[in-house]
Amino acid sequence: MVKESNNNLNHLLIGGISAVDLAKKYGTPLIAYDVELIRKRCQEFKDAFAKHGIANQVAYASKAFCSIAIVQVMKEEGMSLDVVSGGELHTALSAGFPPEKIHFHGNNKSKAEIEMAIDANIGCFVVDNFYELALLEEVGREKNKRISVLLRMTPGIEAHTHEYILTGQEDSKFGFDLLSGQGDQAIVYALKSSELDLLGIHCHIGSQIFETTGFILAADKMFEAIGKWKDSFAYVPKVVNLGGGFGIRYVQEDEPLPLSRYVDELVAAIKQHAESLDIKMPEIWIEPGRSIVGEAGTTIYQIGSEKDIPNVRKYVSIDGGMSDNLRPALYDAKYHAVIANRVNDDASEKVSIAGKCCETGDMLIWDIMLPKVEAGEYLAVFSTGAYGYSMANNYNRIPRPAVVFVENGQDTLVIKRETYDDIVKNDLPYKSNALTKN
Ligand code: LLP
Repeated sequence: MVKESNNNLNHLLIGGISAVDLAKKYGTPLIAYDVELIRKRCQEFKDAFAKHGIANQVAYASKAFCSIAIVQVMKEEGMSLDVVSGGELHTALSAGFPPEKIHFHGNNKSKAEIEMAIDANIGCFVVDNFYELALLEEVGREKNKRISVLLRMTPGIEAHTHEYILTGQEDSKFGFDLLSGQGDQAIVYALKSSELDLLGIHCHIGSQIFETTGFILAADKMFEAIGKWKDSFAYVPKVVNLGGGFGIRYVQEDEPLPLSRYVDELVAAIKQHAESLDIKMPEIWIEPGRSIVGEAGTTIYQIGSEKDIPNVRKYVSIDGGMSDNLRPALYDAKYHAVIANRVNDDASEKVSIAGKCCETGDMLIWDIMLPKVEAGEYLAVFSTGAYGYSMANNYNRIPRPAVVFVENGQDTLVIKRETYDDIVKNDLPYKSNALTKN
């Protein structure tokens, strides 16, 4: 949580710039990213691997926040990139991201998306199911290209996080199930295929995870399987990708681990597995999203109406809500906020922050202590950098917010605010022929 305020004006500073000035310049709601912090997070992951001298790739999971500007930053930081759709791939290519460092995920890639990725010469596909294996072979044959793949395995690990965002359970739509033998079948299939080049295996156990245990257990399961494959068909993966999911701080109670801890413990566990199986240490790949951009983003809203129900609750409304941040409504996610124009004033009043959408569940924060607020003041909500803009929507035909990058004392608009014309730009008029019939 970035809460600098060493200016005389009592304003929240984001990357050294007053959040109030940003709000006045770009309007609200506004998502402001501290780019220095994003770069720091990338560096932390890279340093952690470098310390161990382990061949690796750290792929930014662009689903957390995807735009041309963030992809450019990832390119500058030497990161790889995880995309899950033609749209994310198109963004990456438009940003000039090196295609060979792009990994294409997803449980239902279309043939058109696969063709687009192959034409762009992306690094690899993370294959989710047998349907996709066959589709990849088909496109490989048609284009006369060999396709590099990782196979996504579901190791049956339940990570400690919110139920809706678990993706590593057995009963999950993602990946080849290891327990039932689907994983073995997929390996055999890929090894036999003349169109597919099997680079290795992948798993992802969930998101917003605060301990290392789940990751270590997943690695144990993966290496148990590797031992079996080594004995049965002399197959040893060159790459083991352990996904993303490293937790961040949203509210004071959250206690994220230093990012290097995850890497240190995983590397140690994998080294041990490689030694005991007597195999070459594989390359370790990870794909963090939230932990790269989450805490770097702050959303600035303007405060509007209020409703005080005596002895019950005071609602304070802001000019955004579930249209720019779906997480509280969808996952009951918690956030911390301050009054950006009076950041050091004492909190004296308990209020609940309501969004402006026509939906009772559009509540951004329940029961937060703030200084007594007035309409026109600015509320800054912290840690909105991941899965905020990327899940923003036009419910109630509310335009998506603007996004600004702040770095080195400079603010740069990187996503324009949608306009009302943008909202109707794909709408076409309708004229019923029923009315023109004579
Ligand atoms: N790799 C795979 C295969 C994933 O499915 C995900 C996230 C990631 C990497 C990145 O995970 P991260 O490091 O960002 O936790 N919308 C939800 C999160 C959904 C996560 C989906 N997969 C939220 O707002 O909390």
